[in-house]
Amino acid sequence: CGIVGYIGHRDAYPIIIKGLQRLEYRGYDSAGIALYDGNEINLSKTKGKVEDLNNKAKSTISLEGKLGIGHTRWATHGVPNDMNSHPHYSNSGDLVIIHNGIIENYDAIKKELTKRGYTFSSETDTEVLVNLIEEVKRKEGVKLGKAVQIALNEVVGAYAIAVFDKQKPDEIVVAKLGSPLAIGVGENEFFIASDASPFIEFTNNAIYLEDEEMAVIRLGKEIKLRKIKDDAIAYPSIQELALNLEEIEKGGFDHFMLKEIYEQPRAILDTYRGRLLAKEGIIKMAGIDDNLEKFLNANRIIIVACGTSWHAGLVAEYIFEDLARIPVEVEYASEFRYRNPVITDKDVLIAISQSGETADTLAAIKLAKEKGAFVFGVCNVVGSSIARETDAGAYTHAGPEIGVASTKAFTTQITVLTLLALKLAKEKGIFNKTRFHEHLSELENIPSKVEKALLSNPLVEIISNVYKDSTNCLYLGRGYNFPVALEGALKLKEISYIHAEGYPAAEMKHGPIALIDEHMPVVVIATNKGHYEKVVSNIQEIKSRKGKIIAVVTEGDVQVKELADHVIEIPETLESLTPLLTTIPLQLLSYHIAVMRGCNVDQPRNLAKSVTVE
Ligand code: G6P
Repeated sequence: CGIVGYIGHRDAYPIIIKGLQRLEYRGYDSAGIALYDGNEINLSKTKGKVEDLNNKAKSTISLEGKLGIGHTRWATHGVPNDMNSHPHYSNSGDLVIIHNGIIENYDAIKKELTKRGYTFSSETDTEVLVNLIEEVKRKEGVKLGKAVQIALNEVVGAYAIAVFDKQKPDEIVVAKLGSPLAIGVGENEFFIASDASPFIEFTNNAIYLEDEEMAVIRLGKEIKLRKIKDDAIAYPSIQELALNLEEIEKGGFDHFMLKEIYEQPRAILDTYRGRLLAKEGIIKMAGIDDNLEKFLNANRIIIVACGTSWHAGLVAEYIFEDLARIPVEVEYASEFRYRNPVITDKDVLIAISQSGETADTLAAIKLAKEKGAFVFGVCNVVGSSIARETDAGAYTHAGPEIGVASTKAFTTQITVLTLLALKLAKEKGIFNKTRFHEHLSELENIPSKVEKALLSNPLVEIISNVYKDSTNCLYLGRGYNFPVALEGALKLKEISYIHAEGYPAAEMKHGPIALIDEHMPVVVIATNKGHYEKVVSNIQEIKSRKGKIIAVVTEGDVQVKELADHVIEIPETLESLTPLLTTIPLQLLSYHIAVMRGCNVDQPRNLAKSVTVE
């Protein structure tokens, strides 16, 4: 989601609307605004784009006011509709809030507040938060800033919030944990936003809140930051912005694709946040919990998807069969649909789609439903067609993916499917407590291991420079990492236009080996888990035909290092989780090669982010 706020001497409305438009890349399923006109709060919100909000607000509310907050949403709790859009009022109507993030324990707080007579008009965690703040303020008799602080100490989750009180309309209270929040400091005016793009033309001075910091932004006062936990005061450093608008939206990265590659530690964490409770030893996912019997009684799981999502499906095939012992078939949605497949009501169909709009996948879902199968969706875009069409599902929570070449959607899809497989392995009694716990805690380590894998970036850039003029490239992997080889090849094809093919490493000798000579780079995934010795033999076969070897290995590897022309190390992990790490250098490799070849990385020729034709 994106948030914007203003307090000062200018009209807030145009600043907020324009700011929201600039933040629309962060979410675009609904939008809203609240303005204080000197008397009243005027609030307008709607499902749809910021432009829809602009049209609605202009014809329904007064646009007066020098104080206001606005929000563009990317739904996490509750479908995108008018009621679930932000801002949200507290019950008294005095407080109004915008929030980017997730409050994980909102349900427990909501029950408590309901007991005390609070009512809720939306399904959001945010409306719970604003009422918690109101309750604290009332009960403790404290000012808004203090009430926000006390309330935030009771919540678990991630947030960037801005809240103001009609009774005290000279201040806005902001706080941050996990989600970004910048304050633009002007001459007797302040701007609040998820990044600096909404205020770049008004001021070059910005304060970036750190996690667990909050501030009361008051006209005529210097900004003081407080630590939410212990109330310690920090004087903020004001940074001078030297970026242009486009750069800011990309968060300082040259391309959305690179930004999204780097977002993966956070995205994977967001995907299992609140679902994976390692300490308690449970996985909690409503879409699965409510339909557990369907999964446990399934004869088989059929996975349908296209493109990168199909590759995530292939990884899932290994995961489900290996960990949960359920037979799986993975199908291209388009082929599945047109070949009169045998489907029964004992089948569970999982549809994977980043956009949730891919026409082939949607058509496959409809067919499976007609034949009585239970259909489960794994989508990134909340409220998308596939999310609505399926019987149940789990969102990936990767955040908006703008680069056409899919990166964080892939790793978060694998994360969701891993959670599902682990849950089934436990329920079926295949995993005992110890093994289950081992997997859960290692999954919790993945974000920091992805972080480590990203440290290979400078090395990958050097390697990219060596192979940027290649005309062909082969990618090899075995077991869990065979689909990763396919995905690596797809990434290179998509954005650099170099012909690339992925193959199971052992299959090389049945054909592709004929292509190998000194001009052929071969990317081999050779982690120490899963058929390592066999992959080493494959590497020897390539070497004796003078192929150039770029190997992805486990930290500390010795054997492959001696044979390969280049090695990229990734941290050690459980075999079933290796795809989450091995895929990182391959994404970076395709990215750098494409940049060096002068290709349009974020919008490669002939491709579209979501393909809504069959
Ligand atoms: C398009 C995109 C691919 C994507 C595929 C499936 O072809 O260019 O990057 O993997 O569609 O999209 P979905 O939104 O269903 O995951």
